[in-house]
Amino acid sequence: MNLKCKHALAVLFCLIVTFGNAQQSADEVAPEGSTALGGYAASLAVAAAQTLKAEGLPVEAQSWMISVANPYAAQAGAAVLAAGGTAADAMVSAQAVLGLVEPQSSGLGGGAFLLWYDAETGVLSSLDGRETAPLKANPTLFQDASGAPLKFFDAVVGGRSVGVPGTPALMQEAHRRWGKTPWAGLFSSAVGLAEDGFIVSPRLAEMVRADADFLSRDAESRAYFLPEGQPVSQGQKLVNPAYAQSLRALAGKGVAAFYTGDIAKAIVEKVRNAEHNPGVLSDIDMGLYQIRERPPVCVGYRGYEICGMGPPSSGGLSVGQIMGMLEAYNLGAPTEADVWRLLGDATRLSFADRGRYIADSDYVPVPTQGLIASDYLRQRSKLLAGPRALTEVSAGQPEFDHSLDLADDEAIDLPSTSHISIVDSYGNALSMTTTIENAFGSRLMVGGFLLNNELTDFSFRSHRNGTPIANRVEPGKRPRSSMAPTIVLKDGHPKVILGSPGGSRIIPYVAKTLVAHLDWGLDPQAAVSLPHLVNRFGAYDIEAGTSAETLAAPLEQMGYEVAIRGLNSGLHMIAVTDSGLLGGADPRREGIALGE
Ligand code: DON
Repeated sequence: MNLKCKHALAVLFCLIVTFGNAQQSADEVAPEGSTALGGYAASLAVAAAQTLKAEGLPVEAQSWMISVANPYAAQAGAAVLAAGGTAADAMVSAQAVLGLVEPQSSGLGGGAFLLWYDAETGVLSSLDGRETAPLKANPTLFQDASGAPLKFFDAVVGGRSVGVPGTPALMQEAHRRWGKTPWAGLFSSAVGLAEDGFIVSPRLAEMVRADADFLSRDAESRAYFLPEGQPVSQGQKLVNPAYAQSLRALAGKGVAAFYTGDIAKAIVEKVRNAEHNPGVLSDIDMGLYQIRERPPVCVGYRGYEICGMGPPSSGGLSVGQIMGMLEAYNLGAPTEADVWRLLGDATRLSFADRGRYIADSDYVPVPTQGLIASDYLRQRSKLLAGPRALTEVSAGQPEFDHSLDLADDEAIDLPSTSHISIVDSYGNALSMTTTIENAFGSRLMVGGFLLNNELTDFSFRSHRNGTPIANRVEPGKRPRSSMAPTIVLKDGHPKVILGSPGGSRIIPYVAKTLVAHLDWGLDPQAAVSLPHLVNRFGAYDIEAGTSAETLAAPLEQMGYEVAIRGLNSGLHMIAVTDSGLLGGADPRREGIALGE
């Protein structure tokens, strides 16, 4: 048996993987779940998780668990956890695989935010691996010669939108602080899959097909995603030797190879020479990149502490505000329209504050404590007394320790991004949301991975009626995010690990899933599967084809405009219960939870 399989709690999973390797090619059995790691029996573990998910049941485990957006990544992380690795080790391995098999969502060319609960010390930490604007970027980056904002995709596609990636540095920093498994070995699953090939999933194939036009604009993206002019297809085996080479450099030399070596040079060249839309990124920007540790943001809710990521993400503050405003109300059941009025209008109030006040706190004095102060939330909460939709929603006046006048922001988010939730056998918990922003990011590919378009998360306008917007572009600044990696604590111990993609809808997705679990008692699979109803700016989005459609008429009667539409979350959740771990993976995406 593999030496790493000595860890007592890991033996069963290792037996499965080891036995499986001797049996049959995983690809022959269950292509969606196969990896270079495991064969027949490992595929069975994936198949079992997929069956539970299809039946709407949570995965149960005693020791460790990972819930992530793709079965290959789940298996890579599970193998590390089974061998006694920590959640930080498993994240490195899973992220390296995600960058290959779900390249449209996250990867080495993107950024991420990470929450870590440390079982030994009981301390919760948060790390900011957000992309940064180049030093040559200025508030007019996304404006035309007359000062008008660019059209969204004119800004996205090409070099202008690319910020300095943070994910590689975040992987290394998390591993340096909390890893146990040797760094280089954590890339072996991804390298193996990149060299031997992985099976293209239905989701990736469909997204490539839908994006063929933009992907064709970059020679490397075109050659990889549209070989011989045809989009890669579902079920096809795809190899990515360039990605394997980038991973080998990272594994062998650490992230210096990424930020100062040949990879950095290739990124800068690609961005600056992008046809039609070159950017201003330089090797100095790459070399200056740093992970920032930020204080986690925690808000009390019915005896729990809901903890999340502070600025430059709005995720922790906005989810915390919503929960803090809702605490005064009895949330009944998900079938009651009035419950959704409360959730929807609490979200609208939090979005009004988000648009006015939240940006990179290294550049803008954000009233972080003021926004979640209990007096302030109580006062905002009273606005929800009902019984009809709020007609006027505007930013409140949280307490500031300084004087500042800011205008409301506008920024647009469209689908991509991924979330990883992990609990390891030592009791550590990790919640990380990871992104390249838009699906396929800037569409520029270097070294087998895509570069982000994260800078379009800045406001394209810098001022409104002469008043500056907090989230305007500035040199070296990090764009405001909605990513909301969340860890819920009770008596200082983790109870829920959760997060989602979804652009600015991440915030209501996470808040409603917390309500589903904490108030309505839904297990993680039922909670992430619950049909979506979200309201950020006034119109109520209701998930098409679900039972939530029956709430459209009562919500309209309360005064809401209603839009029935697809709502593509990617919630990955683990609950720590008195008897073990329960995991769920969003049925709207391809992920699974695996545990032992
Ligand atoms: O940081 C953010 O908030 C966005 N760039 C996340 C984008 C996203 O979730 C797209 N989702 N489906």
